[in-house]
Amino acid sequence: MKNTILVTGGVGFIGSNFVLDWIASETASVVNLDKLTYAGNLQNLESLTGNSRHIFVRGDIGDAELVAKLLAEHQPRAIVNFAAESHVDRSIHGPGEFIQTNIVGTFQLLEATRAYWGALNEEDKKAFRFLHVSTDEVYGSLKPEDPAFKETNSYEPNSPYSASKAASDHLVRAYHHTYGLPVLTTNCSNNYGPYHFPEKLIPLIIHNALAGKALPIYGDGQQVRDWLYVRDHCSAIRRVLEAGRVGDTYNVGGWNEKPNLDVVHTLCAILDELSPRADGNAYAEQVTYVTDRLGHDRRYAIDATKIHRELGWKPGETFESGIRKTVQWYLANQTWVRNVTSGDYTNWIQKNYKVED
Ligand code: NAD
Ligand code: DAU
Repeated sequence: MKNTILVTGGVGFIGSNFVLDWIASETASVVNLDKLTYAGNLQNLESLTGNSRHIFVRGDIGDAELVAKLLAEHQPRAIVNFAAESHVDRSIHGPGEFIQTNIVGTFQLLEATRAYWGALNEEDKKAFRFLHVSTDEVYGSLKPEDPAFKETNSYEPNSPYSASKAASDHLVRAYHHTYGLPVLTTNCSNNYGPYHFPEKLIPLIIHNALAGKALPIYGDGQQVRDWLYVRDHCSAIRRVLEAGRVGDTYNVGGWNEKPNLDVVHTLCAILDELSPRADGNAYAEQVTYVTDRLGHDRRYAIDATKIHRELGWKPGETFESGIRKTVQWYLANQTWVRNVTSGDYTNWIQKNYKVED
């Protein structure tokens, strides 16, 4: 094996943050396999242009022939699988792609990995890792009084997205149990930070606020999410890859449970301070209640005790520090936002919110 890792979906939101952090802090090279769906944006990795430690390959994790060729050619010591369809609302409008990439794609990737891993010598076999990046949504929805999700919680996915991620987690688990493939799985809470596609709550609110548009709140806005700054998720994945117990799963979270409405008001207050509206009014005036998401999960919360106790990982950012950095990043990168909000994005907004845009 070589001192190389294969990252899939490394051009999307979390994947690109991971690749940038990895190149800055580790020695191994990265082969980055990404299909470049609407969510994959090579501009996220512009700073790596000409860097010989990063090789980008456009392709599908479900293309078994391509994956087998890449594994044979680059001999990676690990695979980190970010590639997925990731937006819950899109999974409600059209689940097909989620089944294809998240389930069938992960299966094909596992098959190619099994063949590659099976042919390694004993020492390399032991050292190899397949790390699957998953979500807290597989555990379902919590009641206000329920304890946060532990690794031992049962899977109760409620959306086509979370059901497809749950299926992929089960396949990964089965490949360890049945074939001995050295896998690791991380189940993380909601990420936010740079390069977040503005279909998701936080970047959508920043984008709409600055554009003078409505800030859409689904239902009563009291749904709770547990927010983690994306670079903290990246450091957790690096730590699990380095020291995680083979076959185990690790919950990753920021101990930051917030109702959606509070998050939106926090964003409005930071924008009022850093980029006030021309008319002097508060951005919060733009808050608009819209039809709720179908089957909307009420609350997620991660108990991140295991990764802290066993691997010494904890988040570096508080919600307050991370959210301010995030708003500052969006204000400083309006060209990036303009570039990603063309094309498919516009169609999506029309379809999901049924508004004149
Ligand atoms: P994203 O939608 O921003 O990026 C997904 C990337 O995968 C894109 O670059 C896309 O082009 C690529 N991709 C899609 N289908 C592919 C295929 N068939 N083959 C190769 N590449 C493909 O997603 P994200 O928010 O960065 O999430 C990354 C991973 O982390 C996903 O597996 C997601 O389930 C998981 N996750 C996300 C969050 C979150 O808050 N965003 C939290 C926990 C876990
Ligand atoms: O929990 C981890 C998950 O977090 C990841 O697995 C998913 O890939 C990621 O997309 C995210 O899912 P959510 O559905 O929680 O994130 P989203 O940003 O879409 O929505 C956050 C909350 O805000 C959710 O309760 C729905 C609500 N919302 C969202 C949008 C886009 C609104 O009220 N208005 C909106 O316009």
